[in-house]
Amino acid sequence: MSAPGRSQALIPQHAGSPVSAVSAAQRLFLPCAAGVEALLRDEIDGLLKGVPVEAQRGGVTLSTDATGLMALNLGSRLAQRVLIEVASAEYRHEDDLYALARRVDWSAWITPRHTLRVDTTAQRSPLRSLNFAALRVKDAVCDQLREQSGVRPDVDTRAPDLQLLLHLAATRATLYVDASGESLFKRGWREDKGDAPLKETLAAAMLAAAGWRGTPEAGGALHDPCCGSGTIAIEAAQIACGIAPGLKRRFAFERLLPYATPDMRALMQRLKSQAHSRVHAPAVPISASDVSFRMLDFARRNAQRAGVAHAIDFHGGDALERPAPSLPGELPGTLMLNPPYGERIQIAGKAARPSAEDRDTPNDFFPRLATHWKRAYTQHPAGWTAWVLSPDMKLPGAMRLKASLRVPMWNGPIECRLFRFELVAGSARTPRVGPEA
Ligand SMILES: C[S@@+](CC[C@H](N)C(=O)[O-])C[C@H]1O[C@@H](n2cnc3c(N)ncnc32)[C@H](O)[C@@H]1O
Repeated sequence: MSAPGRSQALIPQHAGSPVSAVSAAQRLFLPCAAGVEALLRDEIDGLLKGVPVEAQRGGVTLSTDATGLMALNLGSRLAQRVLIEVASAEYRHEDDLYALARRVDWSAWITPRHTLRVDTTAQRSPLRSLNFAALRVKDAVCDQLREQSGVRPDVDTRAPDLQLLLHLAATRATLYVDASGESLFKRGWREDKGDAPLKETLAAAMLAAAGWRGTPEAGGALHDPCCGSGTIAIEAAQIACGIAPGLKRRFAFERLLPYATPDMRALMQRLKSQAHSRVHAPAVPISASDVSFRMLDFARRNAQRAGVAHAIDFHGGDALERPAPSLPGELPGTLMLNPPYGERIQIAGKAARPSAEDRDTPNDFFPRLATHWKRAYTQHPAGWTAWVLSPDMKLPGAMRLKASLRVPMWNGPIECRLFRFELVAGSARTPRVGPEA
C-alpha cells in the first residue's frame, strides 16, 4: 500500500462519548490495485456526490462522515478496504510509534473485552523489524486501556474486532483503523472458487476500464466465454441489476463502539434498505460459458448466492466453437475474459494438448480463438468489442488482432494488460515478424 499524502492527524476528539469519534468528517484512505486509482476516484465521485477525492499511488484519500464511510463499504467495487486515519506523525524510532498510538483515545473505539490486531506496511522505512513496530503500537493500545480500566484487551490475529494498520513511509507513520475488516473483494457470495478465480475487485476494474455499466449505451450485452467460477459475469450482473457489492457481508466498523450505537445501526440499516430498493432487472443480456462443467456448476452456484442467477445465461462449451450470443441488431456486445494460459489453468477443448509431453509445443488456442471470433463475432451490426486480460504482452501478435487499447493491470503480483480488440470486419492485423511492442 502507498502512503496517503501527509496530513493533519485526525484523532477522535472524544470526551468520553464514542460517537464523537465519527461525528465529524474523517480522513479516509481507500487502497486499490495499482493502475485502478483514477477508476476508483470516478467510482467514489458517483457514490459520494460532491466529496473531493484525491487519487494517489495505490489508492485515494477523502474526508467524509459516518454515512459516507458506510456507503463506501457497501458500494465500492474497486477499493480493497476503507481505512480511517486516526493518527499521523513524523517518526524515527519504535518509541515514536508507541507515542503516536497513545495519542488516540482507544476507549472511544473498543472496550477491553474487544480484541485487536496490528498489521504493518512500509515503504523505505528505516526500521529493521515491522513486527516490532506493530508490537509497539499494540502495546500502546493495550497499556492505555489497562491504565483506564485495569484490563488489557487480547490480541486475535484471526478475527479481531479492531484491525489497525500502521503505514511506515521513510519519515512519517500513519495509523489507520480498518473499517472493512475482511478485504472488500470478498463480497460474501463466493464459496466455490474454481482453480484461478479473479478477485472480484479486478473483475470490477476490468469492467470499469471498459466503460461497461450494464446499459445498452455503456457496453451493451456481456459475454465471458471462459468464465471459470463466474467472477466477471457475476460482477457485471450485479452492476446491471444495481446490486451493491457489500450487501451480502458485514464490516469491521459494525463492531466498533462509534458505529455500534442504536443511531449508527439504524443509519446502516437505512443505507442497506435504500440499496435494496435500487435493485432492478438488468437492461442487457449477460452470458457466460466454460468448457468445464465443474466450473460452470461453481459459477451457477456463485451466481445464485450473489442474487444474479436470473440475470446470467450459463452454457457449457468450447470457446473455439460456441456461436456468438445472438443479440438484437442495434445492441452492441462486449466479450470479456481472462483466458487460460496453459500454466495454472490448462486449455481444454479443441486446442487441448493431448498429453503432458505436448505441453512444450506452442499452443494454438489464441490464434484459433481469434479466427473463431473473426468468423462468429464480426457479422453483428452493432459490433462486438473484446477485452482480454493477459500477462502476455505479445498476445495481439499471437492472435493477429490489432489491440486498440492496452490498460495496465495487476492480477495479484502478475503484471497484465487488458487488451481491447474491436471485432469488426478488417480487425485482423497484418502478420508481422518480430516482437510485439
Ligand atoms: C483463468 S480461468 C478463468 C477464471 C475466471 N475468470 C474466474 O474468475 O473464475 C480460465 C477458464 O477457461 C476455461 N477453459 C479452458 N479451455 C477452454 C476452452 N477451450 N473453452 C472455454 N473455456 C476454457 C477453464 O476451464 C477455466 O475455467
